[in-house]
Amino acid sequence: MSDAKTAGTATLTVDGQTVELPILEGTEGPKVIDVRKLYSQTGMFTYDPSYTSTASCDSALTYIDGEVGILRHGGYTIEQLAGESSFLEVCYLLLHRELPDAATLQDFEHTITYHSMIHEQMRNLYSGFRRDAHPMAVMIGVVGAMSAFYHDSTDINDPQQRLIASHRLIAKMPTIAAWAYKYSVGQPFLYPRNDLSYSENFLRMTFGVPAEEYVPSPAIVDAMDKIFILHADHEQNASTSTVRLAGSSGANPFACIAAGIATLWGPAHGGANQAVLEMLDQIGHKDNIPEFLERAKDKDDPFRLMGFGHRVYKNYDPRAGVLKKSADAVLEELGVDDDPLLELAMELEKIALEDPYFVDRKLFPNVDFYSGIILKAIGFPTSMFTVLFALARTAGWIAQWKEMIEDPDQRIGRPRQLYLGSTERNYVSPDKR
Ligand code: CMC
Repeated sequence: MSDAKTAGTATLTVDGQTVELPILEGTEGPKVIDVRKLYSQTGMFTYDPSYTSTASCDSALTYIDGEVGILRHGGYTIEQLAGESSFLEVCYLLLHRELPDAATLQDFEHTITYHSMIHEQMRNLYSGFRRDAHPMAVMIGVVGAMSAFYHDSTDINDPQQRLIASHRLIAKMPTIAAWAYKYSVGQPFLYPRNDLSYSENFLRMTFGVPAEEYVPSPAIVDAMDKIFILHADHEQNASTSTVRLAGSSGANPFACIAAGIATLWGPAHGGANQAVLEMLDQIGHKDNIPEFLERAKDKDDPFRLMGFGHRVYKNYDPRAGVLKKSADAVLEELGVDDDPLLELAMELEKIALEDPYFVDRKLFPNVDFYSGIILKAIGFPTSMFTVLFALARTAGWIAQWKEMIEDPDQRIGRPRQLYLGSTERNYVSPDKR
């Protein structure tokens, strides 16, 4: 909290008692009312179950203005980063809050490259899973198990160990993720190669086989790297908040990232890109779009238009803008302009963008709508979509975890509640109830 300026006070009158609450101001974005002393002053908590109006921490990594459609890391717009930077450079930016100079970037790339192998005994973990296990289940297990293999980077109080853990997580995720895929299709695991870039390496470990050389097209490598950049961090979303909360107890970083992966899995968060493709399958044909749009509007029907809407972006998702262009390039490169599912996606986008229900509620296609389309075109099975999100978001998770641990004011996170259960009553034995 050291860098937040005080910008006045808010006055709250409750039960005839008046308290002054400091208003704090960051460098940009809404001011916050500091309620940390509210309980000691009034005996009351604030109530905000889905954190709609609550800033859970302060952070210097990522700035979002959802009304305007802005996403910036360290002050750099996501459009510039996706257009001119690389995923590893963005990882460095998130970890160190400054862009590296050329020599530092080279060193960082070297460090990540030389941490990309995983402990050979970790291979055995995969064979413990069913072949048809969801790869996210495998990711939670294998990443959590890193705590059991890298003891020399689990002391959260040692800055060097924290940095090594961060490097290990970013470096090993492509290997762990690609092996989750290889295991599901029954193909041999490929080891990383140090002459390839981060994204090339991941594509080769996923789609290559030992029998022949695998050379991905530059357009696909570029799209992959962009998808990683666009998913790298997104301030205090559900999975990042989970990583912070897990980390606030002093848990080791590998365990915290496994908790983040679990949270990301849900269809309202990272699982949405898989849900988009499943929804397109369900709609089946563009003639059925009106029927499904009506279902999406019906509050009694659980069907929602997956890949539309966002908790924070109420204008447009800037990541979606970047990926829409990338989707066009990838589809052209792969010559899949006549895929009926992709055609259906484009038609759905057009119709929903003109429908008053979606226009009035500012429900625009989000990043998952386009990433789902690109990933399908590249050849990833839908079950791998969320895994790719987890791979990229590891950069943000670990950077946010590190920022939290390095904050001298950091304490365990402990929300309170509004209790609605029974008041005290006497225990009655089962035979007398
Ligand atoms: N289809 C139909 N109606 C919707 C949708 C949708 N996808 N999203 C929101 N609405 C309606 C919602 O019913 C509500 O209507 P009303 O005002 O009449 O009650 C209104 O729009 C406002 O939505 P909300 O539910 O208050 O918004 P939220 O912030 O609670 O939910 C969301 C955000 C992303 C969970 C939701 O939009 C959704 O479920 N979208 C589909 C899933 C999806 O694509 N998720 C990926 C998010 S981007 C990736 C990430 O950051 O993880």
